[in-house]
Amino acid sequence: MRPDMLSTALLLTLPLVFSSSVADDEDSPRHGAPDLGDAYFPGLGNGGYDVKHYDLVLDVDMETGAIEATATIDAQATHGLDAFNLDLWGLKVSGVTVEGVAAEFAHDGLELTIAPDSAIVSGADFRTQIVYAGVPDLAPDASVSSMGMKGTGWMRRESGVFVMSECVGASGWFPCNDHPIDKATMSFTVTVAKPYTVAANGILVEETDSGDARTFKWRANDPMATYLATVNIAELELEVSETESGLPLRLYYPQGTTDKSLEPFRRTADLIDHFSGLFGEYPFEAYGAVLTKEGLGGALESQTLPVYSRGAGEGTLAHELAHQWFGNCVGIEAWEDMWLNEGFAVYASWLWREHTVGPEAIEKSVERAHRWAKQAEIGPPVDPGVGAVFGGATYGRGPLVLHALRMEVGDERFFQILRTWVKRYFNSTATSADFIALSEEVAGRELDGVFDAWLFSETVPADVPANDVPKSE
Ligand code: ARG
Ligand code: ZN
Repeated sequence: MRPDMLSTALLLTLPLVFSSSVADDEDSPRHGAPDLGDAYFPGLGNGGYDVKHYDLVLDVDMETGAIEATATIDAQATHGLDAFNLDLWGLKVSGVTVEGVAAEFAHDGLELTIAPDSAIVSGADFRTQIVYAGVPDLAPDASVSSMGMKGTGWMRRESGVFVMSECVGASGWFPCNDHPIDKATMSFTVTVAKPYTVAANGILVEETDSGDARTFKWRANDPMATYLATVNIAELELEVSETESGLPLRLYYPQGTTDKSLEPFRRTADLIDHFSGLFGEYPFEAYGAVLTKEGLGGALESQTLPVYSRGAGEGTLAHELAHQWFGNCVGIEAWEDMWLNEGFAVYASWLWREHTVGPEAIEKSVERAHRWAKQAEIGPPVDPGVGAVFGGATYGRGPLVLHALRMEVGDERFFQILRTWVKRYFNSTATSADFIALSEEVAGRELDGVFDAWLFSETVPADVPANDVPKSE
């Protein structure tokens, strides 16, 4: 070996030597990252821990709009931590403890930085408690600018408070790791004056009456993304029922809602039944709806309990229900993959029409979306940019990807892909690349043609997806 080659060989071994000391360093405590690197939302989410459970205790004054709150957050450290961050917008923090010991904290913009009295070791479970108060403000959210909104989250209206936090409104009402990648179970104990009712995610486990006020305790046992947490406070009527298999259903609506507006919601069990046949069993412990008196800029698929602006009909109901499988149970790893939520939910609402009206209904929907996409020269569904996550790329071209895939592989394989998708990424998150890989695996061949044309291509293919394969394949 020539001397210069020897030195090259030595250099090559150096990283190995160093890597063992790097491994040691990984366990020595450091500051958890204040950002998860989501391209659409700088500063969103935090590193160094994984949240397991949020327990929120909220006293809500409906007259002033103020809340007094305690958040208890159970998390596991993914590396040693001498400090870590939570996302919290507005509101005033008055005290923080970690493992029951007072901790130092600083709150600046979206970042609540917490320095525990003693460092947390890698892998340890630890409990953080944050006492905070104020009038929640909508967290600034660039994704909803296209809908003419400045922010999302805790929305005060004349009839009450409604929470829709997609994409980044959760941090406007509780301290959290505000990114879909970190799912956790949640509980909410909300106290409010009579006659208000509180409807939140999961199961109502307790309701106590203290004279002038009532306390509603909700518990969501299925892990969920922060943006799917919802607490709604208004004068609400309640209709409780269940599906044939015993899934609890609850429908909350303002007094005076007409039977005609309620009718689609009273058919919820039929929709669950149909979608369970197509996508696999409904994934969560309960389902329902909150109908609001006011318009709130659409609906949101909050987990187990979507929230609907007044006037929502059966198409919206089908859409938000489908999100329980697609978006909620199988979440996205980054906001640029929003089409995995919206494309699937729109397509599912077409599938419901196909079932109730007939095959010509879905053909019409496909043609309409295709015409829209072509006329407006809508770009590809994947990575549309933060201002367009609620736009034509996801809602218009998104469902066409699925229709093209269905036409390519046939019904049997197509629905097998959807069911395998839910099974494999159940209560977890996934990416577009994961969906392509899984589709090709189930189809048993590469599907570049479909994904290049419908998911990635800048230009909309000239013709609607063609039925190349006999459906009975
Ligand atoms: N994901 C919702 C839907 O498609 C849209 C949410 C809009 N965001 C909002 N903060 N209103 O049904
Ligand atoms: Zn949607």
